Amino acid sequence: MEKLVIEGGFPLKGEVKVSGSKNAALPILAAMLLTDEPCVIRNVPKLRDTSTMLKLLRSLGKTVDVIDDKVTILTKGEINYIADYKLVSTMRGSFCVLGPLLGKLKKAKVSLPGGCVIGVRPVDLHLKGIKALGAKLEVDGGYVLATTKGLKGAHIYLGGVFGSSVLATANVMMAAVLAEGETIIESAACEPEIEDLTNCLIAMGAKIEGKGTPRIRITGVKSLHGVSYEIIHDRIEAGTYILLAAMTRSNITIVNGCYQHLMALTDVLEQAGVNVISDGNNVKVKVKGGLQPVSVNTYPYPGFPTDLQAQFMALMAVTPGVSIITDKVYPDRFIHIAELNRMGANIRREGMCSIVQGIPVLKGAPVMASDLRASAALVIAGLAAKGKTEIHRIYHLERGYENLDQKLSMLGAKIRREKE
Ligand code: EPU
Repeated sequence: MEKLVIEGGFPLKGEVKVSGSKNAALPILAAMLLTDEPCVIRNVPKLRDTSTMLKLLRSLGKTVDVIDDKVTILTKGEINYIADYKLVSTMRGSFCVLGPLLGKLKKAKVSLPGGCVIGVRPVDLHLKGIKALGAKLEVDGGYVLATTKGLKGAHIYLGGVFGSSVLATANVMMAAVLAEGETIIESAACEPEIEDLTNCLIAMGAKIEGKGTPRIRITGVKSLHGVSYEIIHDRIEAGTYILLAAMTRSNITIVNGCYQHLMALTDVLEQAGVNVISDGNNVKVKVKGGLQPVSVNTYPYPGFPTDLQAQFMALMAVTPGVSIITDKVYPDRFIHIAELNRMGANIRREGMCSIVQGIPVLKGAPVMASDLRASAALVIAGLAAKGKTEIHRIYHLERGYENLDQKLSMLGAKIRREKE
C-alpha cells in the first residue's frame, strides 16, 4: 500500500488537463453490451473503476483492447449473462450492466452491489424500472436474476426519496432501447453523464427524445449498431481543480474545464468571493481579498453536486465565519469531517447538516482517505495546509482521478507517493 505525502501552504501555477468523465464512461462502456458490432470509445480515463468495468465486459465475453484513452470493444463469441460478485461488489457502477444484458439477452444475473461508506445506496429504483418493462425479478444468493420473454415499453416514474437516480436512469434507459414500443421515464436523472449516455445510444441507433431532461421518451428499436464515440470531460475532476485553485489562491488554467456543467459550483463560489472565468474550453479562478462563508445543499443536477461536497467543505474550513453544508443526496456522506478536523478544522455534524466554523489556516497531519471524494478533499486541504500531510489509503483516489499526483506535480505541488 502507498500513501501520499504533501508539503503544502503555497500557491500552484500552470496548466492542468481534465480527463474523460468516469461517471459517463461507466454506463457508456456497459452500453456496449447492447450491440454485437465493433465499438470504439475515446476519452476513457485510466482509472481503477474504468478498468473494473473493462474486466467485467471481458468476463461477460467481450474482447477489449485499450490504447491510451481509446477502448475498442469487439464481440467474438457468446455473451455471458452473469455479472460476478467479485467485480460488482467492488464498484457500484457495475450494476448498470443489468439493463443492457436484459435488453440484449432477455436474461441477466447481476450481483447486488451492497452498501459503501457514503451510505446504504439501495437499488430499488433500478428494479422498479426494470420490472415495469415486464421483467420477472428474483433476488437470490445476493444476485438479481431478471428474465423476460421480451421487454415492453412502459410509463415509469423513477423518482425516489432523495430525488432522481443516475444509474437507475441509465439502467432503465439501456433496457428500454430494445424494448417493444414506447417507454417514458419521468423524474429521470438530468446529469450530463446521462445526457452523454443518451447521445451515445442515439449514435448507436436508439430513438430517444428529451435527453438531459427529467422526461425521457424512448421508442424501442430491434437492434443497435456499432459506434465511435468520444466521452465528455469529467466535471467533478474539473470542479475539484477549481476548488483547489480557490483554496490555495493559485493561478491555474484548467483545460477542458466543464464550465457549462458547473454552474451550481461557480454560482456558490461567486457568492463566496471567488471569480471563475471561462473562455470556452479553459477555466481560470480569481480570488480578490478574503472569502465569505456560503451555505450549500447538494441536490441532483443541476443542483450542487454531492461529489463536490467534501472538497467544498475543505474550502469553507478555511473561510472565516460559519457555513452550513447539507447533503440531500447522501445524508451520511460526512466521514471527511473527522479527518479535516485532524488538520485543525472546526466542523461538527448535526444530522444531515455539517456546521463549518472557518479558521485562518489548516495544519498538515496524518489523515485517512475514506472514499473517493473525501480523499480529493484531503488532497486539496493538504496542499493548502501549512506543513506536511500524509494521506493513507490512497487507493480510493485511483478509482476516480487520473494521474492526480503527476498532474499536481506539474503545477508545482510538493506531492509524492511513499510505501506505507
Ligand atoms: N437511491 C435510492 N434507490 C435507488 C438508487 C438510488 O434510494 O435505487 C438513492 C441513493 O441512495 C441516493 C440517491 O438516490 O440517496 C441518488 O443516488 P444515485 O442513484 O443517483 O447514485 P448512483 O447512480 O449510484 C452516481 C454516481 C455517484 C454520485 C451519484 C449522485 C456513478 C458511477 N456514480 O451514483 O458518484 O455520487 O450518482 O450524483 O455514476 C463518485 O463518483 O464518487 C460517486 C459516488
